[in-house]
Amino acid sequence: MHYYIKNNTIIYNFQKSLDFITKKGKAIYGHHFQLLNEDMPLIRKIFAYTIGDNENTIIQGLNPRKGLILCGPIGCGKTSLMKLMQLLLPIQQHYPIKACRDISFEFQKDGFDVIHRYSKRSFAITPGSKIPKTVCFDDLGAEQNLKHFGSECNVIAEILLSRYDLFISDNLITHITTNLDAADIEKMYGQRVRSRLREMVNLISFEEGAVDKRK
Ligand SMILES: Nc1ncnc2c1ncn2[C@@H]1O[C@H](COP(=O)(O)OP(=O)(O)OP(=O)(O)O)[C@@H](O)[C@H]1O
Ligand SMILES: [Mg+2]
Repeated sequence: MHYYIKNNTIIYNFQKSLDFITKKGKAIYGHHFQLLNEDMPLIRKIFAYTIGDNENTIIQGLNPRKGLILCGPIGCGKTSLMKLMQLLLPIQQHYPIKACRDISFEFQKDGFDVIHRYSKRSFAITPGSKIPKTVCFDDLGAEQNLKHFGSECNVIAEILLSRYDLFISDNLITHITTNLDAADIEKMYGQRVRSRLREMVNLISFEEGAVDKRK
């Protein structure tokens, strides 16, 4: 096991956790999956943060009260790390990973309800099932501004602005993966979103030259 429980607290073993993630990665992405040495500094940060080791999270330069934004070039492994890391957690603590493109399609279909759907503390997709409050918005910037009956809306910007208010009032956590840098984010979503994101999320940046891990 990669963890044990002591006084109602889960204690994680770092090396065994990495082995566990690698095993899951191989099962999902194929046998070539392995955690690379060059990614270890980032993996350490995300690990400490994910398991809620506040002391090490702070040592690693992250604020445990904020979410994460993983930035980096195409295929460097952002989405897979977000997917795999949360597998270390008990299932009740898993959060949905929603592709921003899918959210823009949902807006086209369902309209402004979608903004509400993703900016509530918790909400039901089907009666009885509650989605946890944390959401990871995958591939920020890859969506288009689709229209719902002729009204166009920067849905993702609206969702992020609403979630910021809930971050302030209720500590709502938002995670993001993106190929965009801060300047691109400002261009696409405006200054208000950029400024709020700075306060809401810890920046975790892959090197610009990080390799594309897609085969
Ligand atoms: N550590 C790894 N070792 C081997 N292959 C990997 C690793 N991480 C990811 N991959 C492979 O690379 C593919 C791309 O990874 P992932 O989707 O996480 O990248 P990304 O940074 O989210 O890319 P994009 O910016 O296009 O969304 C995965 O589908 C997987 O097959
Ligand atoms: Mg991705």
